[in-house]
Amino acid sequence: MKDWIELSIPALRGNESNYLTECVTTNFVSSVGPFIKRFEDSIAASIGLEANKTVATSSGTTALQLGLISIGVKPDDLVILPTYTFIATANAISYVGAKPWIMDVDKKYLTLSPESLQDELQQNTYKKNGSSYHIDTNQRIAGIIPVHVFGYSPDLDKIKTIGENFSIPILLDSACGIGSQYNDKLLGETDLPGIISFNGNKTITTGAGGIFYSNNQQEVDLVKHLSTTAKCSSKYDHDLIGFNYRMSNIQAAVGLAQIEQLNKVVSEKAKIHCLYKSKLDNSLGFSFLDPPPWSKSSNWINAIIINEEHKKKSASLFDKFKSEQIRSNYFWKPLHLQKPYINSLRSKLLWINNIQEKLIPLPSSSTLSVEDQNRVIDAISSVFC
Ligand SMILES: Cc1ncc(COP(=O)(O)O)c(C=O)c1O
Repeated sequence: MKDWIELSIPALRGNESNYLTECVTTNFVSSVGPFIKRFEDSIAASIGLEANKTVATSSGTTALQLGLISIGVKPDDLVILPTYTFIATANAISYVGAKPWIMDVDKKYLTLSPESLQDELQQNTYKKNGSSYHIDTNQRIAGIIPVHVFGYSPDLDKIKTIGENFSIPILLDSACGIGSQYNDKLLGETDLPGIISFNGNKTITTGAGGIFYSNNQQEVDLVKHLSTTAKCSSKYDHDLIGFNYRMSNIQAAVGLAQIEQLNKVVSEKAKIHCLYKSKLDNSLGFSFLDPPPWSKSSNWINAIIINEEHKKKSASLFDKFKSEQIRSNYFWKPLHLQKPYINSLRSKLLWINNIQEKLIPLPSSSTLSVEDQNRVIDAISSVFC
């Protein structure tokens, strides 16, 4: 019996066990312990930031929630985000009591469309006291969240310029972005605050966990303070309603071992991407979701989009994958089709409604062997021949 080929699983091949043993022998297992600072600083270095510019959190979602507060989002504000994202991006907006304004994505790359963003803001907002407001709802527009997809970046310079013109701060949801670059810039070098997820299916993992990063010390300090219940003295004084959102020393120990292997993982994933591209021909009836010219991808997850005329083949492909013990499944459903956000403010989004039927994620774990990858390639070729 063959082993299942998984979509995206962790590779725990470095110092993970040693560091975990150290947590146990030193008795540091909770949200205090030396691995947390070591993890925060080594993530900072890996994304081009100085030490003390990152805060480790319990998840990417909690980092997003606190990041939104740190850029000034308040209850009832509007926050712009692309329809093509994991639901956590919108949920984080809801957790702070704000409302999502769902925008269109680039048809080729599925990242927030700067053109749509510009048009929507131009047509539907007015300026008052240095902020932009929605004409119909009179809500302040307090943030834009561009989202990394499949390991590559949205077009940040264009989005940044639009944000500046309309006085709207940006928070980058780079949950899937570690190891990627925007032009030649690492995540922290884009000069935008953002978050990364270290969930088990990500490029590197802490089991569950996230990080908030920013060049702005006030934002970093506020996120750190809020994530530690806003405690401000040793006498249990708390000056705000904070959250228990810190990462534990155990998670950070795994994360430190993982970050030590980031370059290796990214280069293994690049090889996996090259092999898929060299062996599977777009003319078969699908095209690869390739990174845009402005971004170097970490190749977190490879994906193909089946041409409209062949879209019924997705069911056959999933069946074939199942019979060959290859794990794959539908990927993100656009946000404007999700029940909790069905009535949210949105731009015109009809074209993307059936993306889930056409987009197939392919096994992309860094430990995927050439032999197993060939099994995936053969399965795809047999359905599209
Ligand atoms: C785009 C995006 N945003 C946010 C998150 C939330 O991260 P976490 O699962 O660590 O809370 C994810 C996680 O998969 C994601 O893909």
